[in-house]
Amino acid sequence: MPMKEKIIHFLKQSGGYVSGEEMSEQLKVSRSAVWKYIDQMRQDGYDIAAVPHLGYKLEAVPDKLLPHEIQFGLKTKIMGRHIVAFETAGSTMDEAFRLGMDGAPEGTVVCAEAQTKGRGRLGRAWASPKAKGVYCSLILRPQFSPAQMAQLTLMAAVALAEAIEKVSTVKARIKWPNDVLTGGRKLAGILTELRAEMDQVKFLVIGIGLNVNAAAGHLVPEATSLKMETGTSFDRVAVLQEILRSLEFWYGTLNHGGFKPVIEAWKRYSITLSKRVRVSDPGGTVEGVAFDLDSDGGLLIRQDSGAVIKKMAGDVSQWR
Ligand code: BTN
Repeated sequence: MPMKEKIIHFLKQSGGYVSGEEMSEQLKVSRSAVWKYIDQMRQDGYDIAAVPHLGYKLEAVPDKLLPHEIQFGLKTKIMGRHIVAFETAGSTMDEAFRLGMDGAPEGTVVCAEAQTKGRGRLGRAWASPKAKGVYCSLILRPQFSPAQMAQLTLMAAVALAEAIEKVSTVKARIKWPNDVLTGGRKLAGILTELRAEMDQVKFLVIGIGLNVNAAAGHLVPEATSLKMETGTSFDRVAVLQEILRSLEFWYGTLNHGGFKPVIEAWKRYSITLSKRVRVSDPGGTVEGVAFDLDSDGGLLIRQDSGAVIKKMAGDVSQWR
């Protein structure tokens, strides 16, 4: 661990004032080096008080998705063990693919404070205002066939909805396949992209965009944020940590317990089932009542004629 991070840990663990002398002894660096690191940390945005005879005290950490902050206290074994953070990225999806091609391990997280070309499903843009959300992409290397990709996407939606409900009082609901809404407004979205060769999935990237502290003016009119819903700001690091914990749990459940428990959880969060829907994909448009989820994650729609159609993806409009 770099010395700067050791000092941050030391200050966090002590909670109060720590003398430069104590830090220099415990961390085995000179007092002037301690002072130099403290100065660097202040430049990184850490608020550190210094009082003669008392020492240093960490008052506040910067509002930033810094890898060592995300990893501090994070007990996951896979998700977020390796984190790459950007101040600004085009899209974290592209950065994650680049790392994935270079062999980045499963669970690698790429996050950005802002994205200039954040993208959503179906070629849409994803508004990524600076330091207002969690914009990240996760590399997974599952032993899955491309046909099972829908399972991973629905798994991620469940994990995200659950994490949102853990960190806030917001009621998270899933619109098929993986939009997370609250009160009919979009709070978060998931984009799954994969690199496959023959029938073998090489790796896939799950992109997660969650509007955390964004104000209405930052977002499209149909969107909302945790702050807009609750009136309070959220610690984005804590939000991302919860998402990673939740993803680790649900990915483990999918790998060891199969898709059934994921489907059951998805159904509990769903606001699509039993609704009248219109689903469009390149194959055409289908309208009817979305009555169930198939065992592979496809949406089953009963048309007015009684015919049942299954859709694996698409643009969904739904009525109350
Ligand atoms: C959607 O709802 O259409 C999916 C939105 C996914 C947005 C996230 S933000 C992080 C990652 N990088 C991107 O460019 N997109 C995903």
